[in-house]
Amino acid sequence: MSAETQTPARPFDEMPIITRLEDYPYTMPTLLAREAQTLGPIFRAEVGEQGRDAFGRWVVFMVGPEANRFVMHSHRDHFSHDLGWTPTLGGMFEKGLLNTDDPEHARQRKLMNPAFTSAYMSRYLPIMNRVIAQRSSDWVERDEVDMYAETRKITFDVAAECLTGLRTGAEVDHLRELFFKLMQSSFDDVETMADYVAKLMGVRAELDELLLAKIAERRRMPTDDILGMLVKAGDEQSAPFTDRELLGQLHILLVAGHETTTSMSAWLLYLLASHPDILARVHAEMDEALAATGGEVTLDAIKAMHLLSNTVDEAGRLYSPVGNVPRGVVKDFEFGGYHVPAGTRALLSLAACHRLPEVFANPDTFDPDRFAPPREEDKRTPYALVTFGGGPRICIGINFAQIEIKAMAAHILRHYTLAPTPDQPPLQAYYGPTAELPGGMRLRVTPRSAQADAS
Ligand code: HEM
Repeated sequence: MSAETQTPARPFDEMPIITRLEDYPYTMPTLLAREAQTLGPIFRAEVGEQGRDAFGRWVVFMVGPEANRFVMHSHRDHFSHDLGWTPTLGGMFEKGLLNTDDPEHARQRKLMNPAFTSAYMSRYLPIMNRVIAQRSSDWVERDEVDMYAETRKITFDVAAECLTGLRTGAEVDHLRELFFKLMQSSFDDVETMADYVAKLMGVRAELDELLLAKIAERRRMPTDDILGMLVKAGDEQSAPFTDRELLGQLHILLVAGHETTTSMSAWLLYLLASHPDILARVHAEMDEALAATGGEVTLDAIKAMHLLSNTVDEAGRLYSPVGNVPRGVVKDFEFGGYHVPAGTRALLSLAACHRLPEVFANPDTFDPDRFAPPREEDKRTPYALVTFGGGPRICIGINFAQIEIKAMAAHILRHYTLAPTPDQPPLQAYYGPTAELPGGMRLRVTPRSAQADAS
């Protein structure tokens, strides 16, 4: 039976509540998938005083393809992205596309869409290829690297240059540090709350000064980076962006774009390094695709790598960088047999949907072939694979991220052999607003030799 209620819905206070959430940040996807199997696609969570969050709101989890379709498509006007994401981002950043509601969101998305279409990817790929080659050039010398830290440097450099034209170097390193400080919001050397707030405001002011200077520069001299396109965007129907709005869009594009791509590319490389059978097949496919281009990672070569694409999808399914998407409920609704009042906070769990055995066979197993014909598990059920969200508000950076991750894998696997270090403790993602790896991800790097491939 559909989760959209056929019989009269039960009152909200009869909805089951889950309470044992101690290990939640480490076990969230499997924990919520298990609960959904017994309780159904919607349940409450006891998160604070009397079960409510810091704002006094009940939190409901929604899990599964039907919940995805309901929240992201059929009933999306019942949910606010602003009331969901803005508190999650903690007030550190200006508002942007991610945390703005319609009708304002529709205006902004229309202005931004052109910079993210497939047609523009040919501009960004050479930047990605250069940064990836430059940033990975000393890995063999270092013998062992923290792949999570390395992919962060790559994705931030790529985002900074594609967005604002800033080239890898001291200025981008500084921008990354400012950003990271704001996202972490933790400082070693503060003693009082006033110190803390002053530090945070100082970092934010420095970041804004740097970005506002870039905006002014682009207004004087538009170039073909994303900011250059956003500065020029606007027509009779859609007013152009103001400086403040552009600042918000840059904040949010950097937040949404780099942390997610960092985690997904690191997991992809780790999973390949830990599964030599799949790696050998990815290598064979890649060698054939790159032979046709003389070794250059082109958009056509990327398109030809179907197994790599399925492997990227599998890394995203297992370690979804955005574990839950938050929403504020703005209109009462009925779902899964229950009535939910406006004012509730809803967390649509993408990561838990990816671990439901009725949707994905053996969901905790790494198995990229689940996406290949004839299985195509993601196509059997609409809204099953939602790593990048879905519906009209699907991630605007989906093409950008997928090309960057595949370009990174192609370059790295072509030149290096990666192996887990024997003393690396088992890796567990930590689910905050995005999936993080606080302890890093150590991998050994050696040059890839023909002999290594043959074995
Ligand atoms: C592996 C990488 C990425 C993942 C897994 C990812 C995931 C997501 C998800 C799940 C959403 C939907 C959020 C919701 O429904 O509330 C989203 C939205 C968004 N993403 Fe991404 N993202 C990635 C990369 C990027 C990149 C590279 C950019 C930009 C350069 C970007 C910019 C955005 C923006 C601006 C939105 C809001 C779109 C809107 O509401 O219209 N993301 N992303």
